[in-house]
Amino acid sequence: MAVNIEGTKGNYAHVGNLKSRVSLYDYRKPQIDPVDVAADLLPADLGLVLDVGCGYGRYLKRLRADHPSAAVVGIDAAHGMLAEVDPPIMVADAQAIPYPDGSVDAVLAMHMLYHVPDIAKAVGEFRRVLKPGGTLLVSTNTHDDMAEPYALWARAIRSVLGPDTFIPSAEVANFDSANASAYLGAEFDSVERFEERGLVSVPDPGPLMDYLVSVKSYVDCDDEAFGRILDAAAAELQAHFAAHDVFEFEKALVFYRCK
Ligand SMILES: C[S@@+](CC[C@H](N)C(=O)[O-])C[C@H]1O[C@@H](n2cnc3c(N)ncnc32)[C@H](O)[C@@H]1O
Repeated sequence: MAVNIEGTKGNYAHVGNLKSRVSLYDYRKPQIDPVDVAADLLPADLGLVLDVGCGYGRYLKRLRADHPSAAVVGIDAAHGMLAEVDPPIMVADAQAIPYPDGSVDAVLAMHMLYHVPDIAKAVGEFRRVLKPGGTLLVSTNTHDDMAEPYALWARAIRSVLGPDTFIPSAEVANFDSANASAYLGAEFDSVERFEERGLVSVPDPGPLMDYLVSVKSYVDCDDEAFGRILDAAAAELQAHFAAHDVFEFEKALVFYRCK
């Protein structure tokens, strides 16, 4: 099945970019695993579960272990993301989920709705496939997420490409804690919000540089210009670490459980 994933600009052609970004949170204190949070928010009794935008399958693995008698299906629009995921899996778009009305006990949409061109349509699809009383679990970023590293990367990008250049954080601002409840409340009677806040203390420039490399597909420039962006970011980080032991910023996760 052909799926249009133009919105993600090739970032999910393989698992490397996402894994690189997720590894930045290894430095978060307290150490919060979003997979644990999600597992605790789901009902105990599950038959059919769809993890939509499942990526490399970190939620799927846990749900399959916790609910051995359930069918937990991984769905992603990017074929390359499913390379390491065990079946059942499916390449499909959140805006057109190939399941009948009222057939699913739970849908997960973890840190993915900001990539979907028509968010309201995808939320409508989640509602359509769920059984009456079924659970939708959604996660996303807070509105002020990762302010300091995003500001640093934006300065580096704009120092090379100009002050009005589109920056990667803008890519995910269309679905965050400022607007998620409105989208979800339009389709679901009950929307509960859960937030986990933590501090990320990065001890050297490496993980921050890796993160910037992982969002290259969202920066509209050639390799030579991107090399200059990396040099600008590295110089600013070098100055930062000359004066500080760590680069610190707040990282929060927001979850919505909808019925
Ligand atoms: C930030 S990753 C999150 C992956 C996973 N849910 C996690 O939290 O580890 C976003 C995922 O959504 C997928 N995606 C983007 N647009 C999609 C769409 N319209 N339908 C289904 N999946 C989509 C991407 O390919 C990517 O794997």
